[in-house]
Amino acid sequence: MSTAAVPALPAEHPLMDGRTAHSPLLRALRGERTGSRAVWFMRQAGRSLPEYRTAREGIGMLESCLRPDLASEITLQPVRRHQVDAAIFFSDIVVPLRLAGVDVDIVPGRGPVLGSPVRTPDDVAALPSLDDVDFTAIREAVALTVSQLGTTPLIGFAGAPFTLAAYMVEGGPSRDHLGPRTLMHADPETWRALTTWAADLSGAFLRAQIEAGASACQLFDSWAGSLSAADYEAHAAPASARAFGHVADLPVPRIHFGTGTSELLPAMHAAGATAVGVDYRLPLDEASRRLGGGVPLQGNIDPALLAAPWEVLEEHVRDVLRRGDSAPGHVVNLGHGVPPETDPTVLTRIVELVHEVPQ
Ligand code: CP3
Repeated sequence: MSTAAVPALPAEHPLMDGRTAHSPLLRALRGERTGSRAVWFMRQAGRSLPEYRTAREGIGMLESCLRPDLASEITLQPVRRHQVDAAIFFSDIVVPLRLAGVDVDIVPGRGPVLGSPVRTPDDVAALPSLDDVDFTAIREAVALTVSQLGTTPLIGFAGAPFTLAAYMVEGGPSRDHLGPRTLMHADPETWRALTTWAADLSGAFLRAQIEAGASACQLFDSWAGSLSAADYEAHAAPASARAFGHVADLPVPRIHFGTGTSELLPAMHAAGATAVGVDYRLPLDEASRRLGGGVPLQGNIDPALLAAPWEVLEEHVRDVLRRGDSAPGHVVNLGHGVPPETDPTVLTRIVELVHEVPQ
């Protein structure tokens, strides 16, 4: 009987069968610097695209995420239009909450809102079991998408436990995340139970996307910047490490991104990431220095400059490319998501510029 290890991904996965392994995205995330640069945009699918607004007409956000044909079509739209070097799966960080049976909706213009917040030990104990969350709709949408992407890799993603728990404790969006920041100190045990649950949910969501065909993954800890470095390390990083742990046996790069995280970058890397996403506040050469010079970076065009005159934006993009050269690999992206009012032709022009500049 053979004792060979069972392969962690099937031979027909795009990363295993040669489709995406040598793409600019995968090369940059491995720290290779040959060939053309990779560029994609966080929130590239969405309201900046008229074809997205048409596809979504009359259909709720979560419903669109759970219809495989629609989620796949919306994922592909920005790839067709901008010729970006990666697709990001069209979904949301709260989709797995809905699949687990939590009463959550996405309110247009506001964001995720829960039927009831999760704040007490009893609330946490009453969270649904994660033993049989059904990710079939996600797997189908991913499979449909990668069957049409050819050599362009799909990035799977999930919310980091802190950011997910921030919505759960507040019951909706908040500015300063006081609820979760109080809870982690006032009742660390309940906080740990909540973020462990969130880590296992996000980890399972990531794993479902990768197994179904995603070639890279990203953990979004959008609100981690509201934490001090000490609080991040004690009360957020362990759960992020647990989420990444769900996919650490798979041969897929792991990007870790948050905003306002200039002081957290080494801890975010240490949580199990193979590449770090940097927001627009810290130049990439300085980010690379803080990470010891050995970590591939992603970022960090300031989304505010998308609305500036092209000459101003072009100079900024060229500066981002120059500074990104100091990291072992650089995936060009924004420092946060595409603002909904962005003129999409500007994004296409950035992709052309990034592909033109030699590295
Ligand atoms: O193109 C992509 O990047 C993929 C799709 C994607 C969405 N949400 C779709 C979406 C991704 C990666 C996310 C992640 C997400 N969701 C994050 C982390 C990234 C970040 O932006 O910091 C967070 C914090 C959320 C929670 C959330 N969902 C917010 C704050 C909002 C915005 C509320 C609003 O309407 O302005 C959403 C809704 C949402 N998620 C939209 C999209 C396209 C807008 C819904 C619509 O078009 O009506």
